Amino acid sequence: MNKQPEVIQAMFSAIAGRYDLLNHLLSANQDKAWRRRGVAALNVPPGGRVLDVGAGTGDLGIELARRHPHVGLICAADFALPMLHIAQDKFAQVAPTFRRHFRQDAEATMFACVGADGLRLPHRDDTFDVVMSAFTVRNFCDLTAGLREMHRVTRRGGQVLVLEFCKPTARLLRRGFNVFFRHVLPRVGRWISRHPFAYDYLPHSVEDFVTRREMEELLRAVGYGNVRSKDLTGGVATMFVATKG
Ligand SMILES: C[S@@+](CC[C@H](N)C(=O)[O-])C[C@H]1O[C@@H](n2cnc3c(N)ncnc32)[C@H](O)[C@@H]1O
Repeated sequence: MNKQPEVIQAMFSAIAGRYDLLNHLLSANQDKAWRRRGVAALNVPPGGRVLDVGAGTGDLGIELARRHPHVGLICAADFALPMLHIAQDKFAQVAPTFRRHFRQDAEATMFACVGADGLRLPHRDDTFDVVMSAFTVRNFCDLTAGLREMHRVTRRGGQVLVLEFCKPTARLLRRGFNVFFRHVLPRVGRWISRHPFAYDYLPHSVEDFVTRREMEELLRAVGYGNVRSKDLTGGVATMFVATKG
C-alpha cells in the first residue's frame, strides 16, 4: 500500500472541500460522537496546551474547546494545507462563540494552525499537555516513528488521545465491515469527492492497519503508560488514551 507522504498529502489536499460532508454522511454522523467521546476522556489543565496531529478540518480541536473551555491553546498541525485552511475558517467562526458562552471570566482559547509533517513536528520536547490525533496515524508511512514523535512533544504527565479505525477482530463485525467498506464506501466516496482513489484507499488502509491490542502495545513501546482503549459503535472506531509517565 502506497503511504508515501507526498501521495497522502496530495490525496487529502484534493478532497478537502468534500471531506466533512463525506465524513458525516459515510459514518451517519457517528464521527461527531467519536470525537466527543474522545475529548471527554481527557484531563486538560486550565490554560493547557493541546496539539492535534493531522487536524484536517479542525473538528477535534473544536470539540475539545467545547468540552474543556478553559484550554489555553489548540494547535492544529497537518501537512495538507487545503484542509488546514478550512480549519482556520472554522476556528475564526467558533472562537467568538466560545468567548461569549464559556469564557466570560477567563482568557480566550487561542487556536493556531501549523503546516507540518506529523513525523517531524516543529515543536520542542515536552511541550503539550495533550497530544491528540483522529483518523490520522493510520496514514503514517511509519506508525512507530509517528507515535514516538507524538510522545516526544507530550509533557511528562500529559496525555495522548488516538482515535482510529483498527482492524476488527470479531468475525461478524469484520464481515459487515468488509461489505460496507469495500463496496458501499468507495462508490459513494468516489461519486461525491470526484477523487479517483481516496475512498478505495480508506478500506485498504484499515485492513492494513494494526489491531486494538497491537496499537496498545505500540503506545507502550514508545513510552506511554496507563494505556486504555475503548471500542466505539461496536468496534467500528477505537479510542486510545495513555499518559506520558
Ligand atoms: C482522515 S483525515 C482526519 C482529519 C481530522 N483529524 C478528523 O478527525 O476529521 C487525516 C488527516 O491527517 C493528515 N495527515 C496524514 N498523514 C499526515 C502526516 N504525516 N503529517 C501531517 N498530517 C498528516 C491528512 O492530511 C488529513 O488531513
